[in-house]
Amino acid sequence: MKMIKVDNYQQMSEKAAEYIIDRVTKVPGIKLGLATGGTPIGTYKHLIEDYQNNGTSYLNVTTFNLDEYIGLSGEDKNSYRYYMNDLFFNHIDINKEKTHVPQGDVGDMQTECLRYEELIAENGGIDLQILGIGSNGHIGFNEPGTSFQSKTHIVDLAPSTIEANARFFNQLEEVPTMAITMGISTIMKSKEILLLVSGESKKEALEKLMNGHVDEKFPASILKNHPHVTIIADKAAVAD
Ligand code: GLP
Repeated sequence: MKMIKVDNYQQMSEKAAEYIIDRVTKVPGIKLGLATGGTPIGTYKHLIEDYQNNGTSYLNVTTFNLDEYIGLSGEDKNSYRYYMNDLFFNHIDINKEKTHVPQGDVGDMQTECLRYEELIAENGGIDLQILGIGSNGHIGFNEPGTSFQSKTHIVDLAPSTIEANARFFNQLEEVPTMAITMGISTIMKSKEILLLVSGESKKEALEKLMNGHVDEKFPASILKNHPHVTIIADKAAVAD
């Protein structure tokens, strides 16, 4: 794993955007794996600015998001589909039909898991996956204890994840307790991974990732076994 240390959130977002733009312009028809949460918001902002100023085109880009809450439709302001449209897709020239987010509001969620996993495979897999990390080491919504062999699946969210994500909702009770997420093996199949880490609240998780063992109790630890991982972390997240 290669680590790029930057001063703050702003710099992390700029560096991440530069990294993504480089791949989007060099790899024709790139398949991007995208993340939500607070961490990549600044990155999407920079990508939009670059699109407006330099015209980097996303017409040939296909995207796959990591996860979605169960029970929320794409029109719900707290769904990850809404987040992606609102904070990124609506502001660039991407073909919306090439943007994929697992659906959290279909009757048969098991079928949706299979459909999503197959869709990624049919498209030739993900070239560059953007990741954040939960303070308990979760990636996507793969909570501690998730099998490293897992494919797209349904999860019960950890109480700490529900609490951490409550900041996006009016009240804690509104946070869905279940989600659909790419599995750990799905994520590991990506050709390249870019992990973004910012802030004091992620310090312990990053320290564990850098110095701990590969263990299902800490999902992100599997990234140590991936041949092409770059971490962009800000000072506040890096242990002294
Ligand atoms: C969320 C998301 C993840 C995200 C992580 C960190 O629950 N499902 O995809 O990377 O947890 O979130 P944040 O960036 O808000 O700290």
